[in-house]
Amino acid sequence: MAQRIAVIPGDGIGKEVMPEGVRILEAAARRFAIDLELEAFDFASCDYYLEHGQMLPDDWFETLEGFDAIYYGAVGWPETVPDHVSLWGSLLQFRRRFDQYINLRPCRLLPGIQSPLAGREPGDIDFYVVRENTEGEYSSVGGKMFEGTEREIVIQETVMTRHGTDRVLKFAYELARSRPRKKLTSATKSNGIAITMPWWDERVAAMGAHYPEVAVDQFHIDILTANFVMHPDWFDVVVASNLFGDILSDLGPACTGTIGVAPSANINPEGTFPSLFEPVHGSAPDIAGKGIANPIGQIWSGAMLLEHLGHREAADAVVSAFEAVLRDGDKRVLTPDVGGTGTTEALGRAIASRL
Ligand code: NAD
Ligand code: IPM
Ligand code: MN
Repeated sequence: MAQRIAVIPGDGIGKEVMPEGVRILEAAARRFAIDLELEAFDFASCDYYLEHGQMLPDDWFETLEGFDAIYYGAVGWPETVPDHVSLWGSLLQFRRRFDQYINLRPCRLLPGIQSPLAGREPGDIDFYVVRENTEGEYSSVGGKMFEGTEREIVIQETVMTRHGTDRVLKFAYELARSRPRKKLTSATKSNGIAITMPWWDERVAAMGAHYPEVAVDQFHIDILTANFVMHPDWFDVVVASNLFGDILSDLGPACTGTIGVAPSANINPEGTFPSLFEPVHGSAPDIAGKGIANPIGQIWSGAMLLEHLGHREAADAVVSAFEAVLRDGDKRVLTPDVGGTGTTEALGRAIASRL
């Protein structure tokens, strides 16, 4: 039976990198005889909002629930729709309602890409950020009082549950245990955020009791960001709350030369609901429409999708294909963020021809 994938390009460069992501998925499916059925949707975009007054149709949950995976581009067009409206009306709904509580974000210095950190070579930066993806600082608990007056108060609570925290920690420990270095770093801030974060540290230690073979350390988020820049080679698996993980998963890829290559998997590990695969980056209004966005973040996310659906060999082939093109270093094919003069489509086609 075919595996069904919902394709949602979204906004801005999402609409430019998605065709390349689809090109590669289809090429991989052909080569490895995988029966994929792709269906495209125009919702979860700001254009849809401008037409319908909402980001999603009323029956979006029923529409998407039956798919094996969701392949998303990027969403957000702050010029026409405020970001909190577009994001809370789409991506953040998907993550929560489909209980995609793991946001897995690999960060790897790829061949042929110059790190902005002096002297760093491929192999020096190779870690995962495991981001809690459904609670924490991204809560809808809070409110406003005395709006518009001098006494205005705004409150937004951080919500951490034992269930929600332990399940992301367990995933991170399992991942660390499966890697050669078996190392886990916890992002904390238990010096200043004195209720939730000391408790987070306790949960990290409690889960660690089940994983004696994993070496654990922790850093407060401020020095952790500094260490990402100074000592990226220290890290193997980094586990973080929703907001800390968001920040670390832009900083890490920036250390690998461009956020344009960074992928992410929003995973519901139980498979009760579809998981969602999207690049880490956003809709990049500053370069949208120019056809120069790097499609590798989208394509690598597609590789994660293939692996999630059980096609490990195809996923590895996709990664090898974009690594080969990067290693070639043909400037006419590479996009400007990685030092070339090429287009999104040229890079996508070059990768496809390697498959
Ligand atoms: P952004 O990631 O869109 O862009 C940040 C910078 O990185 C820009 O200079 C952009 O040109 C560059 N960049 C991003 N992707 C690139 C690529 N593939 N190739 C080359 N350069 C690339 O972040 P932003 O500017 O903060 O956000 C723009 C919009 O996207 C906002 O509406 C924001 O809310 C939204 N956003 C959405 C997602 C998502 O859909 N998952 C993620 C982040 C931001
Ligand atoms: C990401 C994005 C989103 C997040 C935004 C757009 C809501 O930055 O996927 O990293 O904060 O999770
Ligand atoms: Mn982010």
